[in-house]
Amino acid sequence: MINIAIDGPAGAGKSTIAKKVAAEKNYIYVDTGAMYRAMALYLLRSGIDREDAAAISAACGKPEITIEYRDGIQVVLLDGENVNEFLRTPRVSDMASRSSANPDVRAKLLELQKDLARRENVVMDGRDIGTVVLPDAQVKIFLTASVDVRADRRYRELIEKGEKADLDEIRAQIKERDERDMNRPISPLKQAEDAVLVDTSDMTIDEVVAAIMHIIEEKI
Ligand code: DC
Repeated sequence: MINIAIDGPAGAGKSTIAKKVAAEKNYIYVDTGAMYRAMALYLLRSGIDREDAAAISAACGKPEITIEYRDGIQVVLLDGENVNEFLRTPRVSDMASRSSANPDVRAKLLELQKDLARRENVVMDGRDIGTVVLPDAQVKIFLTASVDVRADRRYRELIEKGEKADLDEIRAQIKERDERDMNRPISPLKQAEDAVLVDTSDMTIDEVVAAIMHIIEEKI
């Protein structure tokens, strides 16, 4: 199987880019952040305190999180319920960033991710794909952009959806999430030694896709 790993911080454009690259290659796009978000949603719905590591460990084995593809779109099922529409709220983002630091949460989702990549050609995005989940991926990309550019992208995304958004608040949240994702002891966000760094700050989406397709062609 061909495995392409795309890692990077929040708002770097991973999912937009990974989706397009997967479509070009006719591979399956796997959004691992959505799996952590589904777990976070489960924990929130169960009334678990985001600071209570023992309760998170005890609860995370319970839900069944599965991934399906409907018309090419990844659907995350939490105990059979399609929860896609609930995954992108600030509350879920915050809980996902906290609960994803828990080793039991990671162990559970790691198996699911490895299993998908064994069965399918995938473009998988996340934080630890090149370093931990798919260390043998044929292509590894580390996608990044400046904090200001990433905050601006998130802000526009929300405004386009008709939601309220505050740029300063988004920038602060992104910084906080980066800090937590990069400094946790288990599977922190970091560039794999054999990953190619792509800084998208001054690139359009099409330019980034073209750059990555070029890297893939060189490697495979
Ligand atoms: O990519 P995202 O914003 O949807 O990810 C949500 C959270 O999940 C993020 O704060 C970090 C965590 N995450 C992770 O720890 N490992 C991954 N492979 C993917 C996401």
